[in-house]
Amino acid sequence: MPLMTLRELGRTGVRISPIGLGAAQFSGGGSGTFWPALPQSQVDTIVKTALDSGITWFDTAEGYGKGRSERSLSAALSSAGQQPGDVTVSTKWTPLGRTARSIEGTIGDRIANLTPFPVDLHQIHVPYGSWSSIRTQARAMAHLVELGKIRSVGVSNFSARQMEAAHAELAQHGSPLAANQVQINLLHRKIETNGVLETARRLGITLIAYVPLRSGMLTGKLHADPTLVDKLPRQRRMLTGISHKSLHRTTPLIDELRTIAEAHRATVGQVALAWLVTYYGDTVVATSGASKPHHGEEAAGAMKITLSDEETRRLADLSTEVTR
Ligand SMILES: NC(=O)c1ccc[n+]([C@@H]2O[C@H](COP(=O)([O-])OP(=O)(O)OC[C@H]3O[C@@H](n4cnc5c(N)ncnc54)[C@H](OP(=O)(O)O)[C@@H]3O)[C@@H](O)[C@H]2O)c1
Repeated sequence: MPLMTLRELGRTGVRISPIGLGAAQFSGGGSGTFWPALPQSQVDTIVKTALDSGITWFDTAEGYGKGRSERSLSAALSSAGQQPGDVTVSTKWTPLGRTARSIEGTIGDRIANLTPFPVDLHQIHVPYGSWSSIRTQARAMAHLVELGKIRSVGVSNFSARQMEAAHAELAQHGSPLAANQVQINLLHRKIETNGVLETARRLGITLIAYVPLRSGMLTGKLHADPTLVDKLPRQRRMLTGISHKSLHRTTPLIDELRTIAEAHRATVGQVALAWLVTYYGDTVVATSGASKPHHGEEAAGAMKITLSDEETRRLADLSTEVTR
């Protein structure tokens, strides 16, 4: 079965698979992090499996283990025989407690951690916490493009208004905003009502959906074995709304995902991902997280599924019902 066609990242001319791999899981563990440490050999296998299955881009951040995820990702890409230019890599700058000057001050670390892979997309991780305005931050990012240190600029967790401000500043410098990375999944569809989807479509900005499986909830594994909920780190449960109550409330959606999955000889999580990259057309791509090799392979397999209009609408209707 052929994979879905590649999609353009904003108006950069860079083409990426509709589903990419998120590297937050490669943060190296430690206190305060969301994920347990993974041995590098396991990261190597996860990345190799994702590449072999058709994933062409990888998303990391300065904030994921203070650069550990970036280093682990580049080591895994090299170990899989990838060369600069074979894959697309995005990372993020952490604005918290810093001025825009630190964008230029820290780009050397980003480049060193990811070497030999270039920074294809550099994102402002959150719209708050910096001493500088969004326009000043955008200007500093545009300067990095001019210097040839990064290829394009993105933001994350930005509202429609904040996206417009960043886009306007960047466009003046010839590097229009390429992407906004926000939470989008069948249990979180705020982009449809908060103006983000409309703004992205109007300005030609790609929306990168993070937590596309609602941190594993949309794979159905927690519904099948609710005792797993209590084993998840508290921080992960709180930030993603995973609880016994939310499992109960979302059961009709998971049941429908399972029915559709059986018809496509796919898994529940694959149908949830396929919905995400189908329902919003080319505007949305997803960065799926993996802590085991088969996670990346399954995520990539979602790009082989063609959902009918009726299936897509049925899932949208049910998702509205269970989140009402
Ligand atoms: N920009 C931002 O502010 C922001 C915020 C959050 C995330 N992100 C990005 O988005 C990426 C994805 O987010 P995420 O990893 O939190 O969410 P996700 O993709 O919704 O969930 C990933 C988790 O789901 C489980 N999973 C995945 N595939 C599975 C499968 N086939 N079967 C069973 N379980 C499966 C695994 O949980 P277990 O590990 O427990 O098995 C995996 O770690 C991150 O890696 C990061 O790059 C960005």
